[in-house]
Amino acid sequence: MRPLRLALFGFGTVGQWLAEALHTRRAWLEQEYGLVVSLIAVATAHHGMISRDDGLDIPTLLDLVATRQPLTAHPAVTHWADVLEGLQATSADVLAEATGATLLNAEPGLSYIRTALGKRMHVVTSSKGPMALAGLELLALARAQGVQLRMESTVMSGTPVLSTIREGMAGTRICAIRGILNGTANSILSAMARGSDYAEALAQAQVLGYAEADPTDDVAGDDSVAKTLILAAVAFGRALAPSQVVRQGITTLTREQVQQANAFGTRIKHVASLRLLSLDGTEVSRETADNGLVPTRLEARVEPLALPLSDPLARIDGLLNAVAIQTDTEASVMVIGPGAGRFQAGQGMLADLIAIGKAT
Ligand SMILES: NC(=O)c1ccc[n+]([C@@H]2O[C@H](COP(=O)([O-])OP(=O)(O)OC[C@H]3O[C@@H](n4cnc5c(N)ncnc54)[C@H](OP(=O)(O)O)[C@@H]3O)[C@@H](O)[C@H]2O)c1
Repeated sequence: MRPLRLALFGFGTVGQWLAEALHTRRAWLEQEYGLVVSLIAVATAHHGMISRDDGLDIPTLLDLVATRQPLTAHPAVTHWADVLEGLQATSADVLAEATGATLLNAEPGLSYIRTALGKRMHVVTSSKGPMALAGLELLALARAQGVQLRMESTVMSGTPVLSTIREGMAGTRICAIRGILNGTANSILSAMARGSDYAEALAQAQVLGYAEADPTDDVAGDDSVAKTLILAAVAFGRALAPSQVVRQGITTLTREQVQQANAFGTRIKHVASLRLLSLDGTEVSRETADNGLVPTRLEARVEPLALPLSDPLARIDGLLNAVAIQTDTEASVMVIGPGAGRFQAGQGMLADLIAIGKAT
């Protein structure tokens, strides 16, 4: 069996997890999935790209990072200071892209993904920025090049939402999606439902490590907006700009508002939603939209909403995330799971690699 030759860009939290999993599970991955991977290139911001055609040794790479040595200290590697030049030169079949990126900025991932697809490499990515800002274009490029582009970790961090939509629900017409897509915002709202005010709930989330020192991406909604844009591309085949998402964060919610919602038998949740509407604002079926019978637009919103307890999303608490996927046949499918974490993000990339391995 010919191994998949892998280039791994980004060797931080997620990239290292993936490399370690590929190493420690090597025999099992081959036995269970027929997946044999040879890691032939690794790139980081500080070290550029290193490459070795007969395979890099993963424990050596992990040891070099742990001891703060340059990756170029790995034996017998070729080095490119310019990562894009290295990517152009590599003979890898697959790019696993896990570089750090700000949410609504597509670089450096976008250039790496475009270049890899352009030279007919399959791509798996955990970076939200490129998929949020150019998802439809990149999916079309992958299709035109006859390769796969997979991005499970970009929405709900590897809890299988995108593969549920793309493979599990293939053949159904999705007409609406609603979800709780940010664990930090949700854990703050859960704490407020228990009686904290916003500042206390945020401080508690920061102490517990759920919220960053600067929590803006999570509480103002950028993170949920990025994931909503990815869902628009993957589930509806539509490219939306961030400015087309109606957005309201949770920062101005008061304890009184949250408590009052509780008293009315509802729960305030930060809800991301996508639904097809005719131009006069009425809901239309996906079939009608696909057939072009009436002009439609995809409405995208990220906002706090008071949900009745009969709504399953109202009961998603703490760090959990969930997505409810509505089809034309009225069947609704719900995926619930963690929405953050290095294990989940790496696991999503591994599942994507296994899917590519099976198809090649
Ligand atoms: N961590 C999670 O739980 C999680 C969950 C879902 C999705 N994600 C996404 O996954 C991606 C990686 O996350 P992470 O937590 O692993 O980030 P991280 O720990 O900050 O690691 C980022 C890696 O990317 C490298 N990098 C940055 N700019 C680069 C460039 N221009 N060229 C090549 N490499 C570059 C960095 O190099 P240096 O080491 O030299 O700085 C580092 O190795 C991000 O887009 C993140 O949003 C993360």
